[in-house]
Amino acid sequence: MQIAMIGAGYVGLTTATCFAEMGHEVACHDVDGERIRQLEAGELPIYEPRLEEAMRRAVASGKLRFSRSGADCVGGADIVFLAVGTPATPDGRIDLSQVEAAARLVSRWLKPGAVVAIKSTVVAGTCRRVREIMAEERQSLDFSVAANPEFLREGSAMEDFLCPDRIVIGCDDRRSASLLSEVYRPLTERGAPKVLSSTPNAELIKYAANAFLALKIGFINEVADLCAQTGADVGPVAEGIGLDRRIGPSFLRPGPGYGGSCFPKDTCIFAATGHGRGARQFLIETLIERNEKRKVALARRVIAQGELREGSVVAVLGLAFKANTDDVREAAALTMVPILQKAGLRVRAHDPKARANARQWLRDVEWTDTPYEAAHGADAVVILTEWEEYKNIDLGRLACTMSQRVVFDYRNLLDPRAVAAHGLTYFSLGRPPVSPVGKSTRGRVSALAGSRRRVAAPARD
Ligand code: NAD
Ligand code: UGA
Repeated sequence: MQIAMIGAGYVGLTTATCFAEMGHEVACHDVDGERIRQLEAGELPIYEPRLEEAMRRAVASGKLRFSRSGADCVGGADIVFLAVGTPATPDGRIDLSQVEAAARLVSRWLKPGAVVAIKSTVVAGTCRRVREIMAEERQSLDFSVAANPEFLREGSAMEDFLCPDRIVIGCDDRRSASLLSEVYRPLTERGAPKVLSSTPNAELIKYAANAFLALKIGFINEVADLCAQTGADVGPVAEGIGLDRRIGPSFLRPGPGYGGSCFPKDTCIFAATGHGRGARQFLIETLIERNEKRKVALARRVIAQGELREGSVVAVLGLAFKANTDDVREAAALTMVPILQKAGLRVRAHDPKARANARQWLRDVEWTDTPYEAAHGADAVVILTEWEEYKNIDLGRLACTMSQRVVFDYRNLLDPRAVAAHGLTYFSLGRPPVSPVGKSTRGRVSALAGSRRRVAAPARD
């Protein structure tokens, strides 16, 4: 089948590449000409495991191409997917300007009988709106609009797309149901469940799914806080909860608050939609507030429990909002680093992939090439992203290179006993404290820190 993909971001590129691997002929267009130039040169403008090799393979096989021209991309397509951004406005409502612009572009070149499938995450009613826009632009055109939300995660995008838990297709006519079913046939034949429903149902499934997953994370974060106060360990507690098949084991890892380009904006848009339609989503409204406060509270905890002083050096390990991506949108680091700096602390930072993106948001940070360089002479290490590299960090080397030996592990990556065995003071989330083994680090702390003024942690909320 001939497919056009509008938008060459995380979703557009992954989806276009996977459709090409599934045997379709795919042309991908983006409004960002520089991005298309990079792609034509075989360079992936984002970091996503396995995607670059797969994209090059697809281009070499002639199944995938990139185009600066909307006409060239859309003209011959049986299905046009819209995978453009759908950010939130400052007051939390959906900003559909990219979708609307893409709909106008597509209406100009779409061939009669073709289907426009909205892959972007959009509120209920958007398919209807796109249909209206396109009909206004080209009154005699015969076309269909469908909703086909995407559930992939950054960092495992290709696996998620090719082995989905379900494929959701929202259609209001037979033509789009049958064309979209045909596109996904290679996956449904391998057992991927298909949910065929109306367009508003499909649109709402996507937001409700993200809101529920975010809620699970918010829940386990609060359970972790309770564990910390009761001597329980959130690891076994989460395992014990997750073994109940009605709950499931995933999305029960405590952390510094969810981030990324999706959960923060999608929960806000979901809540704003509920508010606007007279069906308030109180749970989600509370979740949004608690998630933001968590990032602030955990930054303050570094200042208070790390006994840090003005000029103390904090090594932040991990700027990406999660591992295996270079994406820093709404990452915990973007909230926490400025709080540490405001308290007079010096921040050194490392991330295996996200440094270039983080530089655009963070100022006065010393960037390092390895976590050990970041930790050299540091008074505290704060782990914010669950990179494999940090999980396997050489604790002996870390302990030797640090000045004051305090580690805040906000992903529960390290084994508390192993950390303590290296004489490090360790704070994690919802796990019982383990005292550092060996010579007291406290003496070193005060000796080193004595000449500096103690920093007061900012007031609690
Ligand atoms: P992105 O910002 O990485 O990419 C969007 C791309 O669309 C950009 O390259 C932009 O230049 C391009 N674009 C904008 N307007 C355009 C236009 N009129 N014509 C052509 N191109 C245009 O966004 P993303 O992360 O790929 O997300 C896209 C959509 O998919 C969003 O609605 C998002 O919520 C949803 N989604 C994202 C993920 C994810 O993991 N990132 C997963 C599932 C769903
Ligand atoms: C999320 C969803 O998982 C995807 O299904 C969805 O398609 C996507 O949003 C979207 O709509 O765009 P993504 O944002 O890429 O995917 O990443 P997740 O793995 O969901 O992580 C989101 C945030 O939650 C990260 O900050 C992560 O560290 C955090 N998280 C996740 C936890 O703190 N604990 C967990 O157990 C899981």
